[in-house]
Amino acid sequence: MTSSSNPSADPSPIVACTISRDVQNFDLLIEDMETVLGESWGDLGFAEALAFFNQPEAQTLEFVALAIDDADEDDLVMLGEIIALAKAKKIKVILIAEDVSPAALHQLLRQGADEFVPYPLPEGELAAAIDRLKKREHQAAQQPAFVSTETPADGVLLAVQAIAGGTGASTLAVNLAWELATVDKKDPPRVCVLDFGLQTGSVATYLDLPRRDPVYEMWSDTDVLDEEVFRQALTSFEDKLWVLTAPQDILPLDMITPEDVQRVLDQARARFDYVIVDMPSTLVQWTETVLNNAQVYFTTLELDMRSAQNAIRLKRALRAEDLPLEKVRFCLNRAPKFTDLNGKSRVKRLAESLEIAIELQLPDGGRQVTQSGDHGVPLASSAAKNPLRKEIAKLAFSLHELGKSDAEAA
Ligand SMILES: Nc1ncnc2c1ncn2[C@@H]1O[C@H](COP(=O)(O)OP(=O)(O)O)[C@@H](O)[C@H]1O
Ligand SMILES: [Mg+2]
Repeated sequence: MTSSSNPSADPSPIVACTISRDVQNFDLLIEDMETVLGESWGDLGFAEALAFFNQPEAQTLEFVALAIDDADEDDLVMLGEIIALAKAKKIKVILIAEDVSPAALHQLLRQGADEFVPYPLPEGELAAAIDRLKKREHQAAQQPAFVSTETPADGVLLAVQAIAGGTGASTLAVNLAWELATVDKKDPPRVCVLDFGLQTGSVATYLDLPRRDPVYEMWSDTDVLDEEVFRQALTSFEDKLWVLTAPQDILPLDMITPEDVQRVLDQARARFDYVIVDMPSTLVQWTETVLNNAQVYFTTLELDMRSAQNAIRLKRALRAEDLPLEKVRFCLNRAPKFTDLNGKSRVKRLAESLEIAIELQLPDGGRQVTQSGDHGVPLASSAAKNPLRKEIAKLAFSLHELGKSDAEAA
């Protein structure tokens, strides 16, 4: 074991420390630290740790493994101080605990310990916890790119709602967002996706992103919503697209008010050129808010009775409330092929009977579409030649061209 007393003479800087009453009580931890870090770690007692954090040598520390057992429960206050000081010095804390009561654990985690691993250490668990820390650090490091957005963006708001669940709204939202984010390699627009399908939201799944706690925190108190809170709630996808996933814990749709939604939309539009909102398929009290803010409100439907009947209901509801029906663009998903004359006449009849214009037709992309969602990547990455992808790319291109010519005209 390396001593922390003279790290400057040591060729490898100390990147981690164990902190415990007596590290010999945690021999499995010693083994694991050696496996993961070789020589570049040290060992401190509780009181020593508090003193050490304030010394310049502590600057190379990336994390500490705070190892405690039931005998340490009387020292919770001091343990809390160690965690707080580590946090203040931007040192991560992995809590290693043997036979510690849930209440004590809870308290220490609330005080800011980043990870918890039980002792005796399960095989590979220390390494896994360190990996999780690094991954989060990496994600956090990507965030500044977002903050450095110079001018207010006043983004274009495009919403997508399924007229009936499963008609492809989230697929359209995610892929349209990606196509917009990559539409112009030289001058890529800033794009974000907001998953407002709070309970059923699938954007996180389709892009394989974690659902993070700050999302729930943001929604539960939008009074304090500012740039920083909003930024914390977003996750980046491949550095090109920013995503507000649905929260991890189920949030009742009516817990959110039109005012909450307006605040989130304002934050997003101030920072992004395009804001894509994936709406729940039911009408909610804040549907109106999104509709009023949106430039275009895409509504996906299919060629069946369920979609037809819901389309009638939607039209009636919007009319009754005097809402801007003209913003709604009906998109027929899994549309019949060009050569399917019978199918084409069914589309025509549907549009006529509903008195709607079907302005966009999206082809069936087959199993590749579902597979792409399961793999958590946009179609462009997994099946660039897929007919659905091509159609969505065309849509993104024309929306972007439209936006550019509007901007030039202004
Ligand atoms: N045009 C399409 N071709 C093939 N599969 C599709 C198409 N549109 C959607 N899907 C698949 O249908 C399922 C439901 O799509 P999703 O976008 O989640 O619907 P919604 O958000 O409207 O409930 C997903 O498995 C998706 O991959
Ligand atoms: Mg959906």
